[in-house]
Amino acid sequence: MAWLTARDLAPTLEVVRPFVMPPVSADALVDLANLVQLVLEQRVPGDFVECGVWRGGGGLLMADFLRQAGIRDRKVWLCDSFQGMPPVQAIDGPIAIAEASDPDSPLYVDNSRVALEDVRRTAAEFGLSAYIEFVPGWFHETLPVQRDRIGPIAILRLDCDWYASVRACLDNLYDQVVDGGFVVLDDYFAYDGCAIAVHEFLGRRGLAHRIESVVGDWGGCEYPFSARFRKGEMNPKWERRAYLAGQDIASLIQPGEAFILVDEQQLSNKLSATRRALPFLERDGQYWGRPVDDATAIQELERLRHAGTGWMVFVWPAFWWLESYTGLHTYLRTHFRCALENERLIAFDLRP
Ligand SMILES: C[S@@+](CC[C@H](N)C(=O)[O-])C[C@H]1O[C@@H](n2cnc3c(N)ncnc32)[C@H](O)[C@@H]1O
Repeated sequence: MAWLTARDLAPTLEVVRPFVMPPVSADALVDLANLVQLVLEQRVPGDFVECGVWRGGGGLLMADFLRQAGIRDRKVWLCDSFQGMPPVQAIDGPIAIAEASDPDSPLYVDNSRVALEDVRRTAAEFGLSAYIEFVPGWFHETLPVQRDRIGPIAILRLDCDWYASVRACLDNLYDQVVDGGFVVLDDYFAYDGCAIAVHEFLGRRGLAHRIESVVGDWGGCEYPFSARFRKGEMNPKWERRAYLAGQDIASLIQPGEAFILVDEQQLSNKLSATRRALPFLERDGQYWGRPVDDATAIQELERLRHAGTGWMVFVWPAFWWLESYTGLHTYLRTHFRCALENERLIAFDLRP
């Protein structure tokens, strides 16, 4: 699976765009699509839930990915009043209050009111009804009684703007988000109330999730369009980089093949389950410490190469090797093809 870009997703975005509320950026949708791909790829269990649906665009996007992946044992749950937004409160902040009190604002859009039947019809027109479950009503009333039916959650997307709505969703659904699952906070940067609800919830529970910005382009400037955290003891950026490095490895090395993974054996499971990562230095399959000098490193590299190992891979935490073992570095550059070099991985092809 490659990490999708806006260009990759352009045809899908064009189709769902009329059903996504205008302030939701393409970058946020691309990120959502990538989260869906990621949890499917990493087999993170659970369904997808969107709280705050409007015309259903985000949910349709997720459901379409399930269809494309041929997955029938996961659902997309769409939770909304289908009567529009509840009243804004002082805690939601001046921007929220201004928007909610101005029916002429382009962001007011009939107080986000869209009827359940309209969204149901759209889902049917897209041929996605079988992937979607609706939870109509106010969150504080529906979620306590429906959450058992919803069950484990892989992606919880909160796009319901106000403090009370975001709190109701976190209070009722956070515990059902599985380890490795994502909570997407679409309005974290947009409205004070959303940010307060998130921090209050995490603070009261003593939860240390690191919140990551989803940044995109806005008129040539980087802008944080939404935010998210991943449940479990993980650093999302680090995880994503390891995940992408795994994709790089999969694009180069055949399943079943062995490769030398320099100095980062603890990453080997994350990088590939189906390719064998040999430590460096290696003795009988075990890590044998760092080479004392370049000559030892080159000798050991050649020994493994003659035993049939076709690749030597440096992932980013081991890049310092190439500066410290300059003799090994020169040897690799002059004798072997550097098949891939990016900010997360450098791979040399050792094959004849
Ligand atoms: C910004 S819109 C959602 C946009 C949509 N996710 C998209 O991608 O286009 C916010 C939605 O949240 C719903 N909502 C907000 N607070 C709610 C609550 N407490 N209970 C039920 N629905 C709520 C509103 O009805 C509205 O449809």
